[in-house]
Amino acid sequence: MATFTLPKNSTITRNGADHRADGASRSKTFKIYRYDPDTGKNPRYDKFEIDLDECGPMVLDALIKIKGEVDPTLTFRRSCREGICGSCSMNLNGKNGLACTTAIEDLPGEVRITPLPHMEVIKDLVPDFTHFYAQYASIRPWLQTVSTTPSGKERLQSPEQREKLDGLYECILCACCSTACPSYWWNGDKFLGPAILLQAYRWLADSRDEMTGERLDDLEDPFRLYRCHTIMNCANVCPKGLNPAKAIAETKKMMVEREI
Ligand code: SF4
Ligand code: SF4
Ligand code: FES
Repeated sequence: MATFTLPKNSTITRNGADHRADGASRSKTFKIYRYDPDTGKNPRYDKFEIDLDECGPMVLDALIKIKGEVDPTLTFRRSCREGICGSCSMNLNGKNGLACTTAIEDLPGEVRITPLPHMEVIKDLVPDFTHFYAQYASIRPWLQTVSTTPSGKERLQSPEQREKLDGLYECILCACCSTACPSYWWNGDKFLGPAILLQAYRWLADSRDEMTGERLDDLEDPFRLYRCHTIMNCANVCPKGLNPAKAIAETKKMMVEREI
């Protein structure tokens, strides 16, 4: 069992061994999922004890500190550090969220960090988004029109039409919702899941888009849309406060209304 030289005020438990640096006045333990396919070994947890007086307030600050000062092999995604890019989504004490906008002090006790659930893991906290992005591409997430663009002008919306996109355009595609959805866990190969369905509705709700019928046709399928059973996990975990279940319900309503 390896022992590691620690920077002052930090402690590491790795490969099952606890290591502690002296002098930590306000310490917090992070239990982090580790997996490296190159080793051929099973996943494990490593424990790192951090002095909160020497660390920024967010979970991402702790991960960056651990990577920078204790274990450079710790692998995770991050970019913006302010809840905009969606890169740092992970599971924190059993709930999906963004590491950069989750305060350490809001997580009681030992902080257990694992990758987003029910996704293939590439390394440590990095899940494979290939399938998620392919599903996103499948809904054609861009403005589709058949009419010619007004010469030299943008396609305009009234304030009321623009307002219909509120609660939709803010989605950062972090996948916290989809990977918290039991229906997506069991049928993620065919069910689009809450994130992609919210994005699909974002274009259905856009007054400028002229492919509404085709978009609804694409969703008219026992799996792509209709595996949502209104369990509401998606709305409970969205770090942007969005409600994918409502967007899904609105899409189902559009399906019904066009058949009347
Ligand atoms: S409401 Fe629908 S999409 Fe949201 S978690 Fe439940 S089943 Fe999944
Ligand atoms: S709806 Fe919320 S949880 Fe889902 S992908 Fe968008 S921002 Fe993330
Ligand atoms: S680093 Fe961009 S959302 Fe967390």
